[in-house]
Parts: sequence; structure tokens; C-alpha cells
Amino acid sequence: MQSVSEAFRKEGQRISLVPTMGYLHEGHLALVKKARAIADVVVVSIFVNPIQFGPKEDLAKYPRDFDRDRELLTREKTDIIFFPDAAEMYPDGYSTYVEVKMLGDHLCGLKREGHFLGVATVVAKLFNAVKPHFAVFGQKDYQQLKIIERMVRDLNMDIEVVGYPTVREHDGLAMSSRNTYLGEAERKEALLIHAAMEKVETMFLGGERKSEVLKAEARRVLGAKGSIEIEYVDICDAETLDDLERIDGRALLAVAARVGKTRLIDNTILMEA
Ligand code: PAJ
Repeated sequence: MQSVSEAFRKEGQRISLVPTMGYLHEGHLALVKKARAIADVVVVSIFVNPIQFGPKEDLAKYPRDFDRDRELLTREKTDIIFFPDAAEMYPDGYSTYVEVKMLGDHLCGLKREGHFLGVATVVAKLFNAVKPHFAVFGQKDYQQLKIIERMVRDLNMDIEVVGYPTVREHDGLAMSSRNTYLGEAERKEALLIHAAMEKVETMFLGGERKSEVLKAEARRVLGAKGSIEIEYVDICDAETLDDLERIDGRALLAVAARVGKTRLIDNTILMEA
């Protein structure tokens, strides 16, 4: 991968990377289109990164379908699919990890121990392998995007991180490879996550600024039916991710919830019109 990228660079070509764990959906493909628009060469990596999964998480059953992914990426005119295996990425004796402090101590970082250590580490490795000029990440994983931006700044990586808005199903559910785990009834209940965020947005635009009031309303909507187990509903500073008691200007509303066994996350920025 490095020598291929080096050859492109020598020709003056600009490379963009879209890191993924595969099982691609329209959200991923929107990132690929964005990558295509900003660079000459598009590299998509597909790697289900074992070190970002906790011992009780879904690493083994994470959905995989390389042939389908390849077909979708070919349609998007992807130049290179980088598809390493775990033994190549983490050979015996592997010992180096990238820890982004502070930003990790919020939201998903508190619930998924070691997750962002695994993410930052693999993304640093992918950056070194692919040597991109640009790397495109979705705002669906907002905390991940902020952590990668921080890592790139802190470690002087010569890469422009590009964020891309969340792509949703027609009914508002954020696209996710994990949506395939949802049964029919669960799929309907999962919509409450979007409904709760919309309700909070409406209250915010109506003038409510107290986080506790807004969060209580989100919890009420999420709790209205059946089997949703709320992991967190948080309103925090959109840059530091520190909790906010009152919203002054701009904030991140972030939700994580289990629908049956499936863990889903979503978020939106609350901003004065
Ligand atoms: P994965 O979940 O496959 O997501 C790959 C990229 O697609 C991420 O940048 C994610 O934010 C983006 N994405 C996912 N769903 C999206 C949606 N509905 N709209 C817009 N973008 C969306 O995130 C990972 O993989 C991994 O943690 C990775 C960064 C590859 C490191 O292993």
C-alpha cells in the first residue's frame, strides 16, 4: 500500500482515504463520493478492527461481505480497496497504541472501555499505510471524528480530516451496518431515537436552553415504548464534549441506546437559527 501511494504522490496525485469496517451502506458511499470530489485517487480501507471491540461486543458477528462491498465501491469508482487482515495489522509482539486523552472520557468512551484507543491506533496505522492527503469521516460517529481531528493536530499528521453529515434512511434512522441486526419490530422502535432528537431540537428552537429539561424530554420519548434501553442522552460542548448545564449558542446532543441487543448511536448539533 505504501509503495502504491508513494507512486501516486510522485505523480502529484492527491489521495483521499475513507476508513471503514465494511458492510457498506449509503452512508459509507456518501463519504466515498466526497472523497472522489476532493482528490484524484480514492482509497477505501475495509478492516474490522479487533482492538476497538470489547470482550463482550460483537466482533465475531459483525457483518462482513467483501464481494458486495467491492461491487459497490467499483460503482463509486474507488481506485484502491485496502483490505488487510488482522495478523498483518497486529503481528506478534505488537505493542504501540495511540491514546487521545480527555475527548475519550465522555459519551461512548465511558461505556466502551478501550474503544477509542483501538480506533485512534488503527486510524494512525491506516494513515501511515495509505499516506493520504485527505481522510473522510462521518459525523454519525461524532466523538470518533473529534478524536481523529485531535490526534492529527497533536501528532502533526500532515492530513486534512474532512467531516461528512449523517446519512439517514427515509424515515430518519441513521444508517449503520448494525441496523441489519434489527428485527422488524425493533427497526420501528429504533426510530424513536430520531424522534427524540427531533423533539429536543424543536424545544431548543422554541427557546429551551436547560440541558436537564431537554434530556428529560428525550428520555421520555425513548422510554415511551417497549424495549429501548437508554445508555446515555447527553448534551455537551461540541468541541470539548464537556457536559453543559445550559446551552449557550451551540451544543451536541448525543444518544446511545440498545434496541433489543443492538447498540445504536446518533447525534445532532443544536444551534440557534
Ligand atoms: P464504520 O462504522 O464502518 O464507519 C466508517 C465511516 O463511515 C466512519 O467515518 C463513520 O462515521 C461513517 N458512517 C457510518 N455511518 C454513517 C452514516 N449514516 N452517515 C455518514 N457517515 C457514516 O467508524 C468505523 O467504521 C471505524 O471505527 C473506523 C474509523 C473504520 C476505524 O476502525
